[in-house]
Amino acid sequence: HEGEGHCGGFFHKTENSTMNPTSDRIDFNDEDSNTSANPHFDEVLGKRLSRRSLFRGAGLAATAAGATALTGCATTGGASSTAIDRLGFKPVAKTTTDKVSIPEGYTAQIIYALGDPLAAGVPVFKNDGTDTQFELRAGDHHDGMEWFGLDASGKPSDSFNSRGILGVNHEATTDEKLSSFFIHANGGTAALPRPASEIDKELAIHGLSFVEVQADGKRWAYRQTSPFNRRITTMTPAVLHGVARGSEHMVTRYSPDGTLCRGTLNNCGTGKTPWGTFVSGEENWFGYFHRNAKDDDARKKDKQVQALNRYGRKAGAASRHGWESGGSEDRYARWNNSAVGAAAKDDYRNEMNTFGYVVEVDAYDTQAPMRKRTSLGRFAHESVAFARPVAGQPVVAYMGDDARGEYIYKFVSDAKWDPKDAQGANRLAAGDKYLDKGTLFAARFKEDGTGEWIELSMKNPVIEGSSYFEFKSDADVAVFTRLAADAVGATKMDRPEWGGVHPRTGEVYITLTNNSNRTAATADAVNPRVYTDMKGSKEQKGNVNGHIVRMADASPAGTDFKWDIYVFGAEAGSDKSRVNLSSLTDDNDMSSPDGLVFSPASGICWIQTDDGAYTDQTNCMMLAAIPGRLGDGGARTVQHGDRQVTTHVGKTPTPATLARFLVGPKGAEITGWCETPDGRAIFVNIQHPGENTAMADVNNPAKYESQWPANAGYGAGQRPRSATIVITKNDGGVIGT
Ligand code: FEO
Ligand code: CA
Ligand code: CA
Repeated sequence: HEGEGHCGGFFHKTENSTMNPTSDRIDFNDEDSNTSANPHFDEVLGKRLSRRSLFRGAGLAATAAGATALTGCATTGGASSTAIDRLGFKPVAKTTTDKVSIPEGYTAQIIYALGDPLAAGVPVFKNDGTDTQFELRAGDHHDGMEWFGLDASGKPSDSFNSRGILGVNHEATTDEKLSSFFIHANGGTAALPRPASEIDKELAIHGLSFVEVQADGKRWAYRQTSPFNRRITTMTPAVLHGVARGSEHMVTRYSPDGTLCRGTLNNCGTGKTPWGTFVSGEENWFGYFHRNAKDDDARKKDKQVQALNRYGRKAGAASRHGWESGGSEDRYARWNNSAVGAAAKDDYRNEMNTFGYVVEVDAYDTQAPMRKRTSLGRFAHESVAFARPVAGQPVVAYMGDDARGEYIYKFVSDAKWDPKDAQGANRLAAGDKYLDKGTLFAARFKEDGTGEWIELSMKNPVIEGSSYFEFKSDADVAVFTRLAADAVGATKMDRPEWGGVHPRTGEVYITLTNNSNRTAATADAVNPRVYTDMKGSKEQKGNVNGHIVRMADASPAGTDFKWDIYVFGAEAGSDKSRVNLSSLTDDNDMSSPDGLVFSPASGICWIQTDDGAYTDQTNCMMLAAIPGRLGDGGARTVQHGDRQVTTHVGKTPTPATLARFLVGPKGAEITGWCETPDGRAIFVNIQHPGENTAMADVNNPAKYESQWPANAGYGAGQRPRSATIVITKNDGGVIGT
């Protein structure tokens, strides 16, 4: 399973593409359950088009808003006074060294790693597998990250640059054979049942953390005793919000009325709302659940069986960590997503339906429970990219569903944006206003460079009358979103990951990290590449290196868009007619783009990789980009045997507009990005260094794939740890300029 990145559940521990049959190395991110007939969905499309006038008349307003809103965005966007048109650093060379490499003239500091204590009295992390109290320590696998500023007196601030709260996702953990082996003394228990003491640690290293950071002159550090420090884990109480609150599919023994749930899981990308809260996407949550072999029968083969299959949990599925095996206590039993009681209120057959959402947290209010925003749909969420809000217009958010052949989504709020909400004190009430009521759409791309957002609601007759799946309400659409998008014939994409909205143009960029399942027969205009790449002697097939699609809505709330491909990932020197369509060079070649964030301060688009395909030649990396705009390139034809696919490619980048800024340590993915308001410090996460270490070598440091960050002078022990770094420019300038 090399070549597809890690992504919260990826095991690529060997050079061999076949799994070791004697191990339990199950690839939970390799989820591949979209067996819907898309994209060859012409029959459905025809049906849908014939109903289109009815549909438009019945449901969708605001399509006539035309281009005015986008123009407004373009003129009011670009908040930055320092937006630049060429990058100002010398590109970093590809490397496989076990360190963080950055350009000359910059300094990186490690400030916050797995296990660091977050409260007074919690011991320093020993990093030998004997540490406990993870509810009061940094979690594992740091992922998406957002900045919440504080002023000198500790009040929320959008302009103070040396004090703030980092909101951090802790996506997953480095594991093999059920066990998160680096946090257990001898690697932990590799068979069922697993001891409760090990499970308790693993339950606590997932979730979110909020940690205060501060600069004293040029040095940054986190504050162990800050009152803003907070952990949210797999066990933290949460409130269900939005259209699926109270749905019959949310009923559990914990919440018989289907309004409450516990925990957040496999948190991948993030976003910051226009009203100043943290949002986080739950990605590969399904892999944490066990299902009994006869569960389809126990459920009387009701419609949830189809949904469970579609969401990657067939009957008999084994869970990633065996948490359900810890005992009869609720904290373990809830991971068995089987019908074992008399009714849903007696068991956890619906527990999985309480995961797969965007969760919202107010970083400044440590007491307020997180809210799960079900109206944004249930899938393998990555980030949430908000369009620049326009007074009197809906709030719009773009989202990807990261699995092979999944879709791109957009949410449009019912409420119209009131700029006063940007500064309001009751931030989660603003979240209720904009995220609980609205409309979800899935993207359908056309060959001519246009596309359509298709409404996912009971107002769409294709969903209301679907014979593919029985949708009884918009709550069903929110819980079984993938099935709704199947039904309307959305376009199957090459693993949509993070999105970002260009501050000047308003165009949205979404990374499509790679797709080993893309074939010559299924290549289409927006997923046009299929090729073979060699990694040593191993063949890698499909869309090996990924690409970044760019979309421009005719109006933010409307249904028509245009698209092109901003850039295709590729190895420098690969075939420019079939693979390296963006003519990347040694200064900017990349594979498997994943994280993508635009800097509000500089306008730079930061692109981060989670790669397994090019890692024989370089560790994962972060690049800086100054993209142009949609349509600045032209049409390109790619030949697949006797089949031709025509796509639309952006202008070829140069090292002045796309350059490698950072290369990470061995085995690590680069992910998560935020900055101080002045853009003079950026925070970046190094996730899972050394993840290809074998569990058997847990106490043999010489065999570790990586010893970062210990080998950079941070912390005790030699076991590798996920960590946050901060990067500053030695002359005090804006990063990347
Ligand atoms: Fe967690 Fe798809 O990256
Ligand atoms: Ca290669
Ligand atoms: Ca990701």
